[in-house]
Amino acid sequence: MTADFSGPTILMCPADYYGIEYEINPWMSRSRQSDPELSRQQWHGLRSVLESLGVDVRLMEPVDGLPDLVFTANAGLVCRDSVFLPRFRHEARQGETPLDDTCFQSHGFQTVSLPEGMNFEGAGDALFCGDTLFAGYLIRSDAAAMQWVAAEIGCRVIPLQLVDDYYYHLDTCFCPLSATEAICFLPAFDEYAQQALREHVPELIEVEADEARRFACNAVAVGRHVVLNSGCPQLEAELSRRGFTTHPTTLDEFIKAGGSAKCLTLRLDGEDAAVWPID
Ligand code: ARG
Repeated sequence: MTADFSGPTILMCPADYYGIEYEINPWMSRSRQSDPELSRQQWHGLRSVLESLGVDVRLMEPVDGLPDLVFTANAGLVCRDSVFLPRFRHEARQGETPLDDTCFQSHGFQTVSLPEGMNFEGAGDALFCGDTLFAGYLIRSDAAAMQWVAAEIGCRVIPLQLVDDYYYHLDTCFCPLSATEAICFLPAFDEYAQQALREHVPELIEVEADEARRFACNAVAVGRHVVLNSGCPQLEAELSRRGFTTHPTTLDEFIKAGGSAKCLTLRLDGEDAAVWPID
């Protein structure tokens, strides 16, 4: 069996065991717990919006004791029939990787493990925009891991240093929408990365600090539709101006763990923004 999808296909993991059980980023505090019922409702809200856009949502089995498994963006980086599996920096999430492996194999993917000692957090830190892999590093993933993955794929990589602990994964501050357009919050990057983004992304859509903190950049693009957390009116207006239809959906329970729409999803058939190299 090989990975074969007839339309937009997204992997999600139900929020049944989601909660704030440890603190591995500044958004997380065990004293600010998530509400289990509300979390499930918000997760279902996101799933329904995606399904209304024609997305085939595939599910991964949730597991007690792995509260962040719900964030399937970190389950791997998909490229054609292969998935590069994560090597999580924090021990608390390391138990997820064997489950990711099984899940991808059951969907027909070939899974690839990075060499030991290289931290890599999947599509949370590695995002294609056109034929280039934009790669966040330092806080979670290592630059060497990104170079390794890009060499395996045979694509150009642009390493981007993340400098603000609140924007610890690339997908919290950068979101490719098409091969030429991306949302971003520039202050989350060092000077060099900011320059690289300006140079290599033809249409950069910048968000303000208050909307970045509402996870405006953590959006899911499906064709010309963009699903994002509620409370980002300026970005929504800008996206509408550019011909996108926006779908705000409240995901505040997940912000308590440092996540929002994009973190809760993983596109299995390839992002609309991605142009993969020919085999
Ligand atoms: N609590 C999780 C962590 O810190 C949140 C992960 C969010 N995922 C993402 N792709 N940004 O690892």
